[in-house]
Amino acid sequence: MCGIMGFSGNLKNESSVGVVLNGLKSLEYRGYDSSGIAYYDNDDRLIKYIKKSGKLINLSNEFSCIAPLNSDVAIGHIRWATHGKPTDENAHPHIDCSGNIAIVHNGIIENYAALKNKLIKKGHRFTTETDSEVIAHLIEDYISAGKSFYEAVRLTSCELLGAFAVLALDAASRSIAAVKFGPPLVLAQKGDNLYVASDISPLIEYTNDVIFLKNSEIACFYDGKLDITTFKGKKVNKTITKIDWDASRAAKSGFSHFMQKEIFEQPARILDAFSSRVMFNEGTKDNVINLNKIKIKRAKKGFNENTQNSFNEAFAGLDISLEGLKLTKNDIVNSPKIVFIACGSSYYASLAIKYMMETICGLSVIVEYGSEFRYENFPISQNDIFVGISQSGETADTNSALEVAKAKRAKILSITNVPGSQITGLSNKGVIYTHAGPEVGVASTKAFTTQLLCGLLLALYVREKSGFMPGYQWLNPRNIFKNLVELPKKMEKILFMDETLKDIAKKYYKSSNFLYLGRGILYPIALEGALKLKEISYIHAEGYPAGEMKHGPIALVDENMPVLFLLSNNMLSTKTISNIEEVKARGGRVIAVADYEPEIDGLSDLIRIPETLEVLSPVLYTVPLQLFAYHIAALKGTDIDQPRNLAKSVTVE
Ligand code: M6R
Repeated sequence: MCGIMGFSGNLKNESSVGVVLNGLKSLEYRGYDSSGIAYYDNDDRLIKYIKKSGKLINLSNEFSCIAPLNSDVAIGHIRWATHGKPTDENAHPHIDCSGNIAIVHNGIIENYAALKNKLIKKGHRFTTETDSEVIAHLIEDYISAGKSFYEAVRLTSCELLGAFAVLALDAASRSIAAVKFGPPLVLAQKGDNLYVASDISPLIEYTNDVIFLKNSEIACFYDGKLDITTFKGKKVNKTITKIDWDASRAAKSGFSHFMQKEIFEQPARILDAFSSRVMFNEGTKDNVINLNKIKIKRAKKGFNENTQNSFNEAFAGLDISLEGLKLTKNDIVNSPKIVFIACGSSYYASLAIKYMMETICGLSVIVEYGSEFRYENFPISQNDIFVGISQSGETADTNSALEVAKAKRAKILSITNVPGSQITGLSNKGVIYTHAGPEVGVASTKAFTTQLLCGLLLALYVREKSGFMPGYQWLNPRNIFKNLVELPKKMEKILFMDETLKDIAKKYYKSSNFLYLGRGILYPIALEGALKLKEISYIHAEGYPAGEMKHGPIALVDENMPVLFLLSNNMLSTKTISNIEEVKARGGRVIAVADYEPEIDGLSDLIRIPETLEVLSPVLYTVPLQLFAYHIAALKGTDIDQPRNLAKSVTVE
């Protein structure tokens, strides 16, 4: 929920504070109600700090007022308050009584009250209402008892309960220590310089080689030397992971907001998500050989010959390779149920993926909110397959729910955007990366559409592995492949309609309520469209299945209630058109997003988008809803990239 950044080293043109401030800018999406930096002043030989409530700009302004700093070590924090109001005092860093130790913390210390009482009795003076401050005093306490800084940090870590990623700065040794138990911490060492942050986004500016700390690990950096141990003090040798993110993707690149840039990036990111994973071979000699091989291989595994033949006919030529996925045919055919776990937009993506899986594989799928699942009495068997979907890979509700399933030995896989995030460690059956690159806007856009795409790939993979046949012959591989390849261009066409969507937004931005309605696979997209509008424009919006309108929401419809329909040229279109007529009959204003020219009189606005296969349609229908929400928010002048009260990565329950 909060973001932390630390630096130790020597740069010619920048002080440690500059590096940390810059890093906090990349992490600002994680929380933005207050921030602070502690640094070691080389001239005065002591720790100094500034902390400010409000946005990061308040902190940068404070630093810009002081003379150039001579400092090699600094730690910083951007806060999303849990314990204690977002005031200057409660902002991090927190300092011990001696002023020699500074800490920043992401997470929650569950036993802070007991620790605080104990430390107060020993004479420690607390100055904030936070749970985090105990960490600084506890380290100080161990140092006063004769322990080294590293030992003090290690013993402190063993005493803390809850979830914590901590950076501690020690004035005496001028070293920093990084501790992970729960929230993420990533390190990057370049020469004598060490960078450490809550995620990889601030680090890729310096290097693509990073080290992910695991739970119960401590990294200590002193004089250009990095040592990593467990909480028990055992030395750990870490591997370096190469990240294929490009630093320029985390910049606005001429767009007014990150969200706008991320919306416009989608055709390229969709292509990244499927281009190296899907192949279609047709009519070549090689292909014939491949097919024969497939046939022999599968026949050996005991497939029924008739099913096998129709399967080959239906799927010949489409090859799905999902690197890192360890789901076997046995896992799939023996699995009583497939359960998707997610929150927010990722939950809505899961709902759309449920339709894809059911249509493509003929499997029934259950979708659960992470926050609800862990407190339900959900029957879990070790043969169940759980799929966690999370952009950040750090959502506490999602990860805790997966932990519950994992404890019952269920099979876990995940779809995530962030390499090395916590969800990847939980996924014993592998990870499908969305390859969306850094998403900075708090409202999810490209992460959502790439999740949909990866869900489709998973459905194709499961079908290919299992041979399950739902009997939809129109879903032939050539058609799927052709439509996949055309998807980025079709998205571009929708993005070219930006001005039209802006004009439509001008008509509606003063409305106080919206209804978003869709059926079938477009119902989750109605939910996502309504969420986008709520999040960034603060306008109340409800997503509903169109067929449910008559069971309640229709009571809300009058001339002040714009109703946005998602309409597709399929067997449900006449039913949705009847719902549109019902709204019109009650004076409601109708906006329709449709992939054909519907014959309806009196539509207030029609947003005509290109047609694609139904299983791919969520990806296209999402884009005009993103643009619509974006323009409404821009007209209202809200803080689009950092909407009030939200954080991108919700690492607390
Ligand atoms: O990182 P995750 O995908 O797990 O995040 C889940 C939700 O917090 C997230 O989708 C949230 O709803 C976004 N603000 C949506 O725009």
